[in-house]
Amino acid sequence: MNYNPKNFLENTGLKLDHKSIGFLQKEIQLLSCSDVHEIAHLITNPESYFFRSFSHLELVKKMSTKKTSIWFAGCSTGQEVYSAALMLSSIRDKKLLGTDISRKYIEKAISGSFFVFKKSEIKALEKYKHVSQSYLHLNNNKKSLDVKFSSLKKEGISFDIHNLMDGPYSSGFDIVYCRNVLLHMTIKGKKKALNSLKDGVKAGGILILGDTDPHIFEDNWERNKYKNAIFWKKKW
Ligand SMILES: C[S@@+](CC[C@H](N)C(=O)[O-])C[C@H]1O[C@@H](n2cnc3c(N)ncnc32)[C@H](O)[C@@H]1O
Repeated sequence: MNYNPKNFLENTGLKLDHKSIGFLQKEIQLLSCSDVHEIAHLITNPESYFFRSFSHLELVKKMSTKKTSIWFAGCSTGQEVYSAALMLSSIRDKKLLGTDISRKYIEKAISGSFFVFKKSEIKALEKYKHVSQSYLHLNNNKKSLDVKFSSLKKEGISFDIHNLMDGPYSSGFDIVYCRNVLLHMTIKGKKKALNSLKDGVKAGGILILGDTDPHIFEDNWERNKYKNAIFWKKKW
């Protein structure tokens, strides 16, 4: 297959400017690689940090009960999954799945190791020092915090590569969470990704999107608000 940036954009739904397309063209030739999961890190924005979108994570906490299953789509290197896991530490038998199109980001997420420099992030993480020592290890250096999460399986956490253009990872999640992902996509890409996310939610479950993401105008979806956080409930 003649793999070129146009295929890449079609296969990821991403919106790129001319400069990025030129860069991608060179990299694809250099790497002679056609697997979208292997090259996605060259062109996607991986920005993520612990306790980002705190009011939405509080909403996740409010909606979670024993055995809740949550899919974090486009989780990058996993900080939002780990933040939720800390906030839900008292909830038993939960399942937290993080997925992303980039293999590199998912490998980093699975490693569970982070260096945190931002003061506000360090402060927020230190509040969870009490959480099971076998799971969260914090090592305070002068200006940074080494964070290591382990026993992921025991804590119900898993990660996998997945492209939102290929449909849902699976169906039947109580909560599907996807923030700061669709905003980087074309109109066509957003539409496809949104369908995948909607299909991942079980009847009675909820979908949490980014603030600028499209609204859902369908009879079986209802817009709701918890404090500052908007969410969509799938009625049937
Ligand atoms: C800015 S990060 C957001 C990370 C996290 N959700 C957060 O809010 O902190 C956007 C992520 O979306 C992922 N992404 C972009 N297109 C995707 C696609 N088609 N399928 C799955 N993930 C995608 C990127 O690889 C990147 O890791």
